[in-house]
Amino acid sequence: MISRGLLCLALAVCAGSVLAQDLSVPSTWREPQNKLNIAERVIVSQTALNSLLPELNKTAAQFNVLGYWQGGNVFSAMANEDHVTRLRLNQGVVTTNLNKAFALYADYDQQMYDDDALWWATAAYYAYRAYGDKNLLSHAIKTWEHVKTFQLSPQDAASGSIATKSFPIMGSCEGKTMAGGVFWRPVANDTGVNSVTTGLFLTLSAYLAEATHNSTYQDSAIAAATWMKTLNMNSDGLALDTINANDCSRSPPTWLFTYNSGKLIEGLSVLADITGDQSWRDFLTNTVAAVTHTTAWQGANGVITEGADTDSDNDGAGFKTILIRAVHEAWARGSKDPQMRDLLRSYINVQYNALLELASTENKGVRWYSAAWAGPQPTNYTAWGQLAALDVLVSAVDINPLV
Ligand SMILES: *[C@@H]1O[C@H](CO)[C@@H](O)[C@H](O)[C@H]1NC(C)=O
Ligand SMILES: *[C@@H]1O[C@H](CO)[C@@H](O)[C@H](O)[C@H]1NC(C)=O
Ligand SMILES: *[C@@H]1O[C@H](CO)[C@@H](O)[C@H](O)[C@H]1NC(C)=O
Ligand SMILES: *[C@@H]1O[C@H](CO)[C@@H](O)[C@H](O)[C@H]1NC(C)=O
Repeated sequence: MISRGLLCLALAVCAGSVLAQDLSVPSTWREPQNKLNIAERVIVSQTALNSLLPELNKTAAQFNVLGYWQGGNVFSAMANEDHVTRLRLNQGVVTTNLNKAFALYADYDQQMYDDDALWWATAAYYAYRAYGDKNLLSHAIKTWEHVKTFQLSPQDAASGSIATKSFPIMGSCEGKTMAGGVFWRPVANDTGVNSVTTGLFLTLSAYLAEATHNSTYQDSAIAAATWMKTLNMNSDGLALDTINANDCSRSPPTWLFTYNSGKLIEGLSVLADITGDQSWRDFLTNTVAAVTHTTAWQGANGVITEGADTDSDNDGAGFKTILIRAVHEAWARGSKDPQMRDLLRSYINVQYNALLELASTENKGVRWYSAAWAGPQPTNYTAWGQLAALDVLVSAVDINPLV
C-alpha cells in the first residue's frame, strides 16, 4: 500500500483540500455533552446579553471598554439569540443601535477599517434575518457596496492597480492571482489584504446572495473564497492572516487566529448552500476538521485558550466568539452531514461547559465570565469576558435538544 504522502508527491495534486478529513470527536475533550434544559439555556444566554446593557453608551452606540468592532458583535449575538429563540427580546436595542451607528459612522466605518464596517454590516444582516427589517438589510447592502471597491477584481490584478489605492499592486503572488482578496483598510496607502476582511466579505456576500438572489453577491463571494483557498491557507488547513498587495510579503505563519478560520467557515457554509457546489462543501469540511482538531489555540481538552486576558480588553479577547458563531452556522446548515454536526455540537458544548464550570462565577443574579475559558473563575466583571462568552451561550441554546 502506497502512503498518502507518497501518493500526493507522485501526483502533485494533494494541495490541502483533499487531505485529512478527521471528523471524529477526540476522546480527550472535556465534557462534550450538554447538561442544561432549553429554558435554562435561554436564561443563561439572555442574562449574559443583558449584562452588557449597563455598559452601552446610547449616544455613541458603543459599549464602554469594548472596541468598536466588538460592540457590533454584541448586537450580532443579540440578533442571533432572537433568531434562535424567536422571542425578539433584543429587537428594540439591536434595531435602535444599528440605525444609530449607521447614521453616526458612514458605511458603519468609524475609524477607517473595512473589517469594522463589515462586522457591523453583518450584524445588520443578522438583525434583518431575525426581524425581517428591510431598512437594516439596506444598511448591510450600502456597506457592502462601499467595501466592494476594496476587493481586487481580475481587471485590477491584470492592470496592477486598483482605483482605491495609491500604489502599484502585485496582480499575483506565488503564481496565484490576487483577485478576490479584500483590503483591510480603506486608507489609500495601506497595503494589507487579510483573511478576516476577505472572510467577512465572503460571508456577507453569501448571505446577501441568499437573501436577494442577486448574482453580483454570489460572484463576489466566490472570488473571496477562491482567494482564501488558493493563497491564504496553511498546510494544516487553517487560515493565515495577511498578504501585502504591494510586494506579496506575508504575516508570520504563527499568526493563526480563530476568527480568520471562523469567518471562512461561516462564509463557506452559506456559499456551499447557495451554489450547491461540492468543492465549497469539501473546503468547508476540511476547514472544520482542521479548526476543531488543531493545537494552535486549544489543549487536548478542546477548550479554547486564545485571547485569555483577564486584565484588560484587547482584540484577541473577541476572536474566539466569532469562531463559535461560525461553527454554529455550519451546524445549522449541516443536516446532510451528521458526523460533522456531531463534532460541531460537541465542540461548542466543550466551550459551554468550560465557561459554566471553569470560567464563571455567579454574583447577585449575574454570571461573570472570564475571557480565560480554561479558568480560573473570575473575581470581577469584565465587559470583554462577557462579550467572548456570548456566541457560545447563544449557540448552545440552538444545538442541543429542545427539552
Ligand atoms: C458616550 O460617548 C460619547 C461619544 O464618544 C462621549 O462623548 C460620552 O462621554 C460618552 N458617555 C459616557 C457616559 O461615557
Ligand atoms: C498614509 O497616508 C496617511 C494619510 O491618509 C498618512 O498620514 C501616512 O503618513 C501615510 N503613510 C505612509 C507610509 O506614507
Ligand atoms: C445587485 O446588487 C448590486 C450591488 O448591490 C446592485 O448594484 C444591483 O443593482 C443589484 N441588482 C438588482 C437587479 O437588484
Ligand atoms: C479582575 O479579575 C482578574 C482575574 O479574573 C484579575 O486578573 C484582575 O486583576 C481583576 N481586576 C480587578 C480590577 O480587580
